[in-house]
Amino acid sequence: MKLSPLIPYIAIACSLMACERNPKKTGYELLPDMAHSMPYDAFAPNPVTRDGKTLQLPPPGSIPRGFLPYHYGNTPEEAERAGREVTNPIPVTPASLARGKKVYETFCSVCHGDQGKGDGPLIPKFPNPPSYTSKKVQDYPEGRLFHIITQGSGMMASYASQISPEDRWKVVQYVQTLQHPHPVEVAK
Ligand code: HEC
Repeated sequence: MKLSPLIPYIAIACSLMACERNPKKTGYELLPDMAHSMPYDAFAPNPVTRDGKTLQLPPPGSIPRGFLPYHYGNTPEEAERAGREVTNPIPVTPASLARGKKVYETFCSVCHGDQGKGDGPLIPKFPNPPSYTSKKVQDYPEGRLFHIITQGSGMMASYASQISPEDRWKVVQYVQTLQHPHPVEVAK
């Protein structure tokens, strides 16, 4: 379709129509409903609601969509309990391992090293983390690995705000492939 060459002139004429010499007057508004919206603005006072605010707090106990509540505190006892009780909900597939590797290389390998030996480029500026194949870490169940990423561990910070629960599980799966010569069973 060929646009009429008059369109720019019509547009300029329309904008000029909105101008007004008297600064006290707003001039002609083409679509007033868009400038002055009918609903209350999110942060405007509101005479209808009980607390006088437009934006309402979610009812106590609400859980945001896609959010997984996590009821394990930041102590070694809780890490152990998570190891006993928390299990991986995500099937291990080549795609999940590839994603886990990518997230691992983004967040973990700076300290833990590409192979998880505790020799990443940030060492020795940051204390040496244990190797994933050390006896202690190798024996950790999947839930405990998930817990460590979620809550942190000793000097290591929590990654809960940077890595979604789903991606945390994929990192756990990938870490397990670094820990064991015959990795976790991969679904076809
Ligand atoms: C800034 C450096 C740093 C980064 C980044 C980091 N870690 Fe660590 N990590 C450490 C240190 C240091 C320790 C030893 C903690 C301690 O016991 O004080 C550790 C410990 C661990 C342990 C063993 C905990 C234990 O109980 O001995 C695991 C498993 C682990 N990290 C996994 C990860 C994973 C997975 C990531 C990425 C999501 C990650 N770490 C990112 C520094 C880091």
